[in-house]
Amino acid sequence: MSVVEIVDHPLIQHKISLLRDRNTGTKEFRDLVSEIAMLLCYEATRDLPTEEVEVETPVALARTKVLAGRKLALVPILRAGLGMVDGMLNLIPAAKVGHIGMYRNEETLEPVEYYCKLPSDINEREVFVLDPMLATGGSSCDAIAQIKKRGAKHIKFIGLVAAPQGLKALHEAHPDVDIYVAALDEKLNENGYIVPGLGDAGDRIFGTK
Ligand code: PRP
Ligand code: URA
Repeated sequence: MSVVEIVDHPLIQHKISLLRDRNTGTKEFRDLVSEIAMLLCYEATRDLPTEEVEVETPVALARTKVLAGRKLALVPILRAGLGMVDGMLNLIPAAKVGHIGMYRNEETLEPVEYYCKLPSDINEREVFVLDPMLATGGSSCDAIAQIKKRGAKHIKFIGLVAAPQGLKALHEAHPDVDIYVAALDEKLNENGYIVPGLGDAGDRIFGTK
């Protein structure tokens, strides 16, 4: 059974509220996206395997645990997913990073893929697909289909704000993919924006509007 989790930790809720505020400027917005990604990473890596090792402390020998060396990869969906990479790498610095470029056609809302470069051993890695926004779900469903086509078998999706439609579409298209998001909002508006949402994540991260 895959996981669908709205990670409603108080720190995450607080930071999501700041992110939603239209008066939050580009630098603060970027910092918040990174911090929330780091907090979500903590939750999404809860099931990483560990192994026992012996460590000499200044006092005695300790039998303790370290990560069992599973290979990890991050795949941000361009552009807005890029804002989540540094926060994730703070906790899992050895992860490789692939990129997939998708944009939504503004009229049809259909996703268009324009770039894909993944680590060559993606089939051996646990993959974290990153995108702050899960609106219709079209971009993340297609991105994950492309990543699977290139051999990935273990995939988790990490996002900040989801609409009910997007969450349902992603879970139905990829029932094997664990989904972690920080907030589940009310609906989409007629332009395909999440309501209340936080606006256009890419524009707010990169200051393009
Ligand atoms: C945004 C967002 C997601 C997508 C979500 O990207 O970052 O990738 O929309 O919408 P969906 O679930 O309906 O597909 P956008 O198309 O604005 O591209 P950008 O990141 O390059 O700005
Ligand atoms: N993409 C965004 O950046 N924001 C939305 O609300 C929907 C799609």
